Amino acid sequence: MRISVIGAGYVGLTTAGCLAELGHDVFCAEADVQKLARLCAGELPFFEPNLDDLVQRNRAAGRLQFGSTEDAIDRGRAIFICVGTPPMENGEADLSAIESVARTIARRAQGYRLIVEKSTVPVQTGRQLRRHLALHSSSTLTYDVVSNPEFLREGTAVEDFFHPDRILVGVEDSRAAEAMHEIYRPVLERTVACPVHHSKDCMKQAKFVVTDTNSAELIKHASNSFLAMKISFINMVADLCEAAGADIGKVAEAVGLDPRIGSSFLQPGIGFGGFCFPKDLQAFVRIAEKFGCDFSLLKEVERINKNRVEKFVEKIKNELWVLRGKRICVWGLAFKPKTDDIRFAPALSVLRQLLAEGAQVQAYDPQAMAKAQLEIPDVTYCKDMYEAAVGAEAIVLLTEWDEFQGADWDLLSRLVQRPLLLDGRNTLSAEQVSACGFQYVGIGGISAMPKTHPQVADLAAEVHV
Ligand code: UGA
Repeated sequence: MRISVIGAGYVGLTTAGCLAELGHDVFCAEADVQKLARLCAGELPFFEPNLDDLVQRNRAAGRLQFGSTEDAIDRGRAIFICVGTPPMENGEADLSAIESVARTIARRAQGYRLIVEKSTVPVQTGRQLRRHLALHSSSTLTYDVVSNPEFLREGTAVEDFFHPDRILVGVEDSRAAEAMHEIYRPVLERTVACPVHHSKDCMKQAKFVVTDTNSAELIKHASNSFLAMKISFINMVADLCEAAGADIGKVAEAVGLDPRIGSSFLQPGIGFGGFCFPKDLQAFVRIAEKFGCDFSLLKEVERINKNRVEKFVEKIKNELWVLRGKRICVWGLAFKPKTDDIRFAPALSVLRQLLAEGAQVQAYDPQAMAKAQLEIPDVTYCKDMYEAAVGAEAIVLLTEWDEFQGADWDLLSRLVQRPLLLDGRNTLSAEQVSACGFQYVGIGGISAMPKTHPQVADLAAEVHV
């Protein structure tokens, strides 16, 4: 099918590349001229594992092109709207980019168009889109408006596209549902090989869920809000474990064994970030308010999340006392591993507070340093995790990149000024780290004194008394 994707952000570009991989003829539009020039030159504007290969391969095969919104609207029989819906001051989603695309479609398009709303939007946006098109389009345009929320996670977006649990379409009539089924048929019938695993066998059977548009829009916000709620819940349990002398690792593991609860999204830490959870949570609260429902449960989820950074910085201060003038090594800046995305990253909030306290920060992140440097220049950005540790009085892990699992702790113990690790993601082994002479301080009651340097152990124990 001839498909156009409007917006080449994380969602749009991934969707465009993956739809082309399914065999569709895809035209992806980007309004930012600099970004468009980079895309046309074969450069990706952000890091996402496996996406570069996918985009280059499909461009070379002639299945993926980039250009203007106008050209996209003229060419595509299906138009996927993937523009940004950033939060406004009051937490509501700003829908002006969606409205502007709808206006251009109404002005230009003739014949039939399947208009697919993929950006995360408040319930009843599809209804508004229909009304807008009815008011402003010419009599030669016929259309269906479909809600097709995405459930891709940054860092594993390509994999997630080919291994979905469900493909959700919100429609008002069966013609649109059939067209959407046709678009996703290679995934649903597993006739395409997953480009990450290079096999069809690994693909699980996805459910094709058809609802009305309002329900589909609501499902997306409810899903993200529920996951955010799980994270804040486990973070509170972590606080309780710490205060009461329990071990959050063991508690979360056993709680997650109940299939009604599930083990995922029970990882405690410095909180959730990124461009989805924080904004979707706020938007969902605002949507509920608009419809007269008090969703203060989610306000609490947000409040708990905001406190995580404060609490973690307190933990650092508890170990180092005064931060002014102290050299601190920070590992990880992105809001999660396998991405260079730093939007609403809790790591950057921690970093800002360390700087505000007068610390000298040496930071390393495998992908996010270029973006972080533009936002926070007063940090020494280092070429690797070891350079960042030189002379540091503490190593502070903020994003759990796999690379940190393989750290050489013997070498690190010779590089740092004080062997102290504060693990903001509870991701490293307290046992392994302490065996190499480091004091380990995690979240939720997980800590260990150094095993091979008795003098440091004595000192650390003294400070803890
Ligand atoms: C999230 C959803 O997981 C996707 O299904 C959805 O499509 C996407 O938002 C979206 O709306 O576009 P994403 O934001 O990429 O995906 O990342 P997640 O893996 O969900 O992580 C979000 C945040 O929660 C990260 O900061 C992560 O570190 C944190 N997190 C996650 C925890 O603190 N603990 C956990 O147990 C899991």
